[in-house]
Amino acid sequence: MGIETVPLGETLGAEIRGVDLRHRLDEKVAEAVRTAWHEHLVLLFRGAPLSDQKLIDFTLGLGDLEFPPSKILNLAGGPAIGSDIPSEINVISNVKENGKPIGHLGASEATWHTDSAFVEVPPAGSILHALEVPPSGGNTSFLNMYAAYETLPDALRSRIDGKKIKHDQTYTSAGGRRHGYDAVTDIREAPGPWHPAVRTHPETGRKALYLGRRMNGYVEDLSVEENEELLDAIWEHVLQPKFIWEHKWSVGDVLMWDNRCVMHRREAFDDSSRRIMHRTQLAGDRPS
Ligand code: SIN
Repeated sequence: MGIETVPLGETLGAEIRGVDLRHRLDEKVAEAVRTAWHEHLVLLFRGAPLSDQKLIDFTLGLGDLEFPPSKILNLAGGPAIGSDIPSEINVISNVKENGKPIGHLGASEATWHTDSAFVEVPPAGSILHALEVPPSGGNTSFLNMYAAYETLPDALRSRIDGKKIKHDQTYTSAGGRRHGYDAVTDIREAPGPWHPAVRTHPETGRKALYLGRRMNGYVEDLSVEENEELLDAIWEHVLQPKFIWEHKWSVGDVLMWDNRCVMHRREAFDDSSRRIMHRTQLAGDRPS
Protein backbone atom coordinates (compact mmCIF):
# COMPACT_ATOMS: atom_id res chain seq x y z
CA MET A 1 0.00 0.00 0.00
CA GLY A 2 1.31 3.49 -0.85
CA ILE A 3 1.52 6.25 1.70
CA GLU A 4 -1.22 8.87 1.77
CA THR A 5 -0.70 12.46 2.94
CA VAL A 6 -3.75 14.32 4.27
CA PRO A 7 -3.13 18.04 4.99
CA LEU A 8 -4.53 19.19 8.36
CA GLY A 9 -3.75 22.89 8.90
CA GLU A 10 -3.87 25.93 6.64
CA THR A 11 -0.08 26.34 6.44
CA LEU A 12 1.31 23.24 8.18
CA GLY A 13 0.45 19.79 9.49
CA ALA A 14 -0.50 16.59 7.67
CA GLU A 15 -1.58 13.11 8.63
CA ILE A 16 0.41 10.28 7.07
CA ARG A 17 -1.52 7.09 6.40
CA GLY A 18 -0.25 3.74 5.21
CA VAL A 19 2.98 3.64 7.27
CA ASP A 20 3.24 1.00 9.99
CA LEU A 21 5.46 2.39 12.72
CA ARG A 22 5.87 -1.04 14.32
CA HIS A 23 8.29 -1.98 11.55
CA ARG A 24 11.56 -0.25 10.71
CA LEU A 25 10.99 2.04 7.70
CA ASP A 26 12.61 0.93 4.49
CA GLU A 27 14.58 3.65 2.70
CA LYS A 28 11.86 4.27 0.08
CA VAL A 29 9.20 4.90 2.73
CA ALA A 30 11.63 6.93 4.85
CA GLU A 31 12.36 9.14 1.84
CA ALA A 32 8.62 9.64 1.22
CA VAL A 33 8.15 10.57 4.90
CA ARG A 34 11.04 13.07 4.74
CA THR A 35 9.59 14.63 1.57
CA ALA A 36 6.17 15.02 3.24
CA TRP A 37 7.85 16.41 6.37
CA HIS A 38 9.67 19.09 4.39
CA GLU A 39 6.43 20.07 2.71
CA HIS A 40 4.08 19.97 5.73
CA LEU A 41 6.57 20.57 8.62
CA VAL A 42 4.55 18.55 11.16
CA LEU A 43 3.42 14.97 10.50
CA LEU A 44 0.84 12.96 12.43
CA PHE A 45 0.83 9.14 12.49
CA ARG A 46 -2.07 7.40 14.22
CA GLY A 47 -1.94 3.90 15.67
CA ALA A 48 -1.60 1.80 18.78
CA PRO A 49 0.99 2.77 21.43
CA LEU A 50 4.57 1.82 20.58
CA SER A 51 7.28 0.51 22.87
CA ASP A 52 10.24 2.84 23.48
CA GLN A 53 12.40 0.61 21.32
CA LYS A 54 9.92 0.88 18.41
CA LEU A 55 9.87 4.66 18.78
CA ILE A 56 13.68 4.69 18.72
CA ASP A 57 13.74 2.37 15.68
CA PHE A 58 11.26 4.62 13.85
CA THR A 59 13.44 7.65 14.62
CA LEU A 60 16.60 5.86 13.47
CA GLY A 61 14.87 5.07 10.18
CA LEU A 62 14.77 8.83 9.53
CA GLY A 63 18.15 10.02 10.81
CA ASP A 64 20.56 10.09 13.75
CA LEU A 65 19.22 10.20 17.30
CA GLU A 66 19.92 13.15 19.60
CA PHE A 67 19.86 12.85 23.40
CA PRO A 68 17.39 14.87 25.53
CA PRO A 69 18.60 18.37 26.52
CA SER A 70 19.12 17.36 30.16
CA LYS A 71 21.79 14.94 28.93
CA ILE A 72 23.36 17.35 26.41
CA LEU A 73 23.73 20.03 29.11
CA ASN A 74 24.42 17.52 31.87
CA LEU A 75 21.64 19.03 33.96
CA ALA A 76 21.11 17.79 37.49
CA GLY A 77 17.96 17.94 39.62
CA GLY A 78 15.47 16.85 36.95
CA PRO A 79 12.57 14.43 37.31
CA ALA A 80 13.00 10.83 38.47
CA ILE A 81 12.82 9.20 35.03
CA GLY A 82 12.34 5.42 35.36
CA SER A 83 15.47 3.30 35.09
CA ASP A 84 13.66 1.18 32.48
CA ILE A 85 13.42 4.19 30.11
CA PRO A 86 16.22 4.30 27.47
CA SER A 87 18.44 7.39 27.77
CA GLU A 88 17.44 8.55 24.25
CA ILE A 89 13.84 9.00 25.45
CA ASN A 90 12.66 12.23 27.06
CA VAL A 91 9.57 11.82 29.24
CA ILE A 92 7.09 14.71 29.16
CA SER A 93 4.57 14.17 31.93
CA ASN A 94 2.75 15.63 34.92
CA VAL A 95 2.50 12.24 36.66
CA LYS A 96 4.19 11.82 40.04
CA GLU A 97 5.28 8.53 41.54
CA ASN A 98 6.25 8.37 45.21
CA GLY A 99 5.85 12.15 45.27
CA LYS A 100 8.37 12.72 42.45
CA PRO A 101 7.64 13.76 38.85
CA ILE A 102 8.39 11.03 36.32
CA GLY A 103 8.86 13.56 33.49
CA HIS A 104 9.27 17.18 32.46
CA LEU A 105 6.95 20.19 32.06
CA GLY A 106 4.15 19.29 34.54
CA ALA A 107 0.58 20.31 33.65
CA SER A 108 0.97 24.05 33.14
CA GLU A 109 1.30 25.78 29.79
CA ALA A 110 4.55 25.23 27.90
CA THR A 111 4.87 28.56 26.11
CA TRP A 112 5.84 28.91 22.43
CA HIS A 113 9.32 27.58 21.86
CA THR A 114 11.70 25.64 19.68
CA ASP A 115 13.01 22.48 21.33
CA SER A 116 16.51 22.91 22.76
CA ALA A 117 17.28 26.14 20.87
CA PHE A 118 19.29 26.89 24.04
CA VAL A 119 22.08 24.48 23.03
CA GLU A 120 24.78 25.12 20.41
CA VAL A 121 23.60 22.40 18.02
CA PRO A 122 19.85 21.98 18.51
CA PRO A 123 17.92 18.92 17.30
CA ALA A 124 16.53 18.99 13.76
CA GLY A 125 13.30 17.29 14.72
CA SER A 126 11.25 16.05 17.66
CA ILE A 127 9.04 12.97 17.65
CA LEU A 128 6.43 12.91 20.42
CA HIS A 129 4.36 9.84 21.22
CA ALA A 130 1.19 9.89 23.34
CA LEU A 131 0.88 7.08 25.89
CA GLU A 132 -1.72 8.66 28.21
CA VAL A 133 -3.73 11.81 27.48
CA PRO A 134 -6.11 13.91 29.61
CA PRO A 135 -9.80 14.06 28.61
CA SER A 136 -9.39 17.75 27.79
CA GLY A 137 -6.57 20.28 27.54
CA GLY A 138 -2.92 19.53 26.81
CA ASN A 139 -3.33 20.20 23.07
CA THR A 140 -0.13 21.08 21.23
CA SER A 141 -0.03 23.88 18.64
CA PHE A 142 2.52 24.44 15.90
CA LEU A 143 3.62 27.59 14.13
CA ASN A 144 5.03 27.87 10.61
CA MET A 145 8.15 30.01 10.90
CA TYR A 146 8.81 30.05 7.13
CA ALA A 147 5.44 31.73 6.60
CA ALA A 148 6.04 34.05 9.56
CA TYR A 149 9.35 35.16 8.01
CA GLU A 150 8.10 35.42 4.43
CA THR A 151 5.24 37.73 5.49
CA LEU A 152 7.25 39.83 7.93
CA PRO A 153 6.78 43.54 7.08
CA ASP A 154 9.92 45.04 5.49
CA ALA A 155 10.35 47.48 8.37
CA LEU A 156 10.76 44.57 10.80
CA ARG A 157 12.64 42.31 8.42
CA SER A 158 15.38 44.89 7.86
CA ARG A 159 15.89 45.15 11.65
CA ILE A 160 16.26 41.40 12.24
CA ASP A 161 17.94 40.11 9.04
CA GLY A 162 21.60 39.29 9.72
CA LYS A 163 21.20 39.61 13.51
CA LYS A 164 21.86 36.99 16.17
CA ILE A 165 19.61 36.16 19.10
CA LYS A 166 20.80 34.86 22.47
CA HIS A 167 18.79 31.80 23.64
CA ASP A 168 18.61 31.69 27.43
CA GLN A 169 19.18 28.29 29.05
CA THR A 170 17.92 29.24 32.48
CA TYR A 171 14.18 28.52 32.23
CA THR A 172 12.09 25.71 30.77
CA SER A 173 9.20 26.52 28.43
CA ALA A 174 6.91 25.92 31.44
CA GLY A 175 8.74 28.71 33.31
CA GLY A 176 10.69 26.56 35.79
CA ARG A 177 14.28 27.56 36.55
CA ARG A 178 16.74 24.76 35.79
CA HIS A 179 18.70 23.30 38.67
CA GLY A 180 22.05 25.06 39.11
CA TYR A 181 21.08 28.22 37.16
CA ASP A 182 20.76 31.66 38.79
CA ALA A 183 17.71 33.81 38.12
CA VAL A 184 18.23 36.12 35.12
CA THR A 185 18.39 39.74 36.19
CA ASP A 186 19.88 41.15 32.95
CA ILE A 187 18.87 39.45 29.69
CA ARG A 188 22.12 40.57 28.05
CA GLU A 189 24.04 38.38 30.51
CA ALA A 190 21.78 35.30 30.40
CA PRO A 191 23.65 32.03 29.69
CA GLY A 192 23.05 30.43 26.29
CA PRO A 193 24.19 30.27 22.66
CA TRP A 194 23.83 32.90 19.95
CA HIS A 195 21.94 31.74 16.86
CA PRO A 196 20.99 33.61 13.68
CA ALA A 197 17.54 35.21 13.99
CA VAL A 198 16.82 34.04 10.45
CA ARG A 199 18.13 30.60 9.56
CA THR A 200 18.28 28.74 6.27
CA HIS A 201 16.89 25.22 6.39
CA PRO A 202 19.73 22.90 5.34
CA GLU A 203 17.43 20.63 3.33
CA THR A 204 14.79 22.90 1.81
CA GLY A 205 16.96 26.01 1.42
CA ARG A 206 14.06 28.13 2.74
CA LYS A 207 14.52 30.87 5.33
CA ALA A 208 12.69 30.79 8.66
CA LEU A 209 12.60 33.02 11.71
CA TYR A 210 14.45 31.35 14.58
CA LEU A 211 13.31 32.97 17.82
CA GLY A 212 13.65 30.14 20.35
CA ARG A 213 11.26 31.60 22.91
CA ARG A 214 10.11 35.05 23.93
CA MET A 215 11.25 34.99 27.56
CA ASN A 216 14.77 36.44 27.86
CA GLY A 217 15.32 36.48 24.09
CA TYR A 218 17.96 39.09 23.31
CA VAL A 219 18.95 40.53 19.91
CA GLU A 220 22.65 41.43 19.70
CA ASP A 221 23.76 45.03 20.09
CA LEU A 222 20.37 46.39 21.19
CA SER A 223 19.55 48.16 24.42
CA VAL A 224 17.12 46.23 26.59
CA GLU A 225 14.34 48.70 25.66
CA GLU A 226 15.03 48.41 21.91
CA ASN A 227 15.17 44.64 22.24
CA GLU A 228 11.81 44.38 23.99
CA GLU A 229 10.15 46.68 21.47
CA LEU A 230 11.57 44.78 18.46
CA LEU A 231 10.86 41.29 19.79
CA ASP A 232 7.34 42.26 20.90
CA ALA A 233 6.59 43.55 17.39
CA ILE A 234 8.01 40.41 15.73
CA TRP A 235 6.15 38.07 18.11
CA GLU A 236 2.90 39.96 17.49
CA HIS A 237 3.33 39.28 13.77
CA VAL A 238 4.33 35.65 14.31
CA LEU A 239 1.41 34.67 16.54
CA GLN A 240 -1.27 35.01 13.88
CA PRO A 241 -3.83 32.20 13.74
CA LYS A 242 -3.19 31.66 10.02
CA PHE A 243 0.34 30.38 10.81
CA ILE A 244 -0.86 27.97 13.53
CA TRP A 245 -2.24 24.44 13.60
CA GLU A 246 -3.43 22.82 16.85
CA HIS A 247 -3.46 19.11 17.58
CA LYS A 248 -5.76 17.33 20.05
CA TRP A 249 -4.01 14.14 21.12
CA SER A 250 -5.31 10.58 21.14
CA VAL A 251 -3.43 7.68 22.72
CA GLY A 252 -1.04 6.17 20.18
CA ASP A 253 -0.49 9.37 18.18
CA VAL A 254 3.02 10.11 17.00
CA LEU A 255 3.76 13.70 15.94
CA MET A 256 6.99 14.62 14.27
CA TRP A 257 7.93 18.27 13.83
CA ASP A 258 10.81 20.19 12.29
CA ASN A 259 12.50 22.41 14.87
CA ARG A 260 14.32 24.32 12.13
CA CYS A 261 11.12 25.92 10.83
CA VAL A 262 8.41 25.27 13.45
CA MET A 263 7.73 26.49 16.99
CA HIS A 264 5.25 24.81 19.31
CA ARG A 265 3.24 25.41 22.47
CA ARG A 266 1.47 23.00 24.84
CA GLU A 267 -1.67 24.28 26.55
CA ALA A 268 -2.27 23.67 30.26
CA PHE A 269 -4.47 20.83 31.50
CA ASP A 270 -6.01 19.63 34.74
CA ASP A 271 -3.19 18.30 36.90
CA SER A 272 -5.48 15.66 38.41
CA SER A 273 -5.56 13.86 35.04
CA ARG A 274 -2.59 11.97 33.66
CA ARG A 275 -0.60 12.84 30.54
CA ILE A 276 2.43 10.75 29.56
CA MET A 277 4.35 11.41 26.36
CA HIS A 278 7.66 9.91 25.25
CA ARG A 279 9.86 11.93 22.91
CA THR A 280 12.85 11.18 20.72
CA GLN A 281 14.86 13.73 18.77
CA LEU A 282 16.63 13.76 15.43
CA ALA A 283 20.12 15.24 15.49
CA GLY A 284 20.56 18.58 13.74
CA ASP A 285 23.19 21.04 12.49
CA ARG A 286 24.43 24.31 13.95
CA PRO A 287 21.86 26.93 12.77
CA SER A 288 23.22 29.09 9.94
C1 SIN B 1 7.36 19.87 24.15
O1 SIN B 1 7.42 21.06 24.34
O2 SIN B 1 8.20 19.28 23.49
C2 SIN B 1 6.20 19.09 24.71
C3 SIN B 1 4.98 19.32 23.94
C4 SIN B 1 3.81 18.62 24.57
O3 SIN B 1 3.87 18.22 25.73
O4 SIN B 1 2.80 18.50 23.88
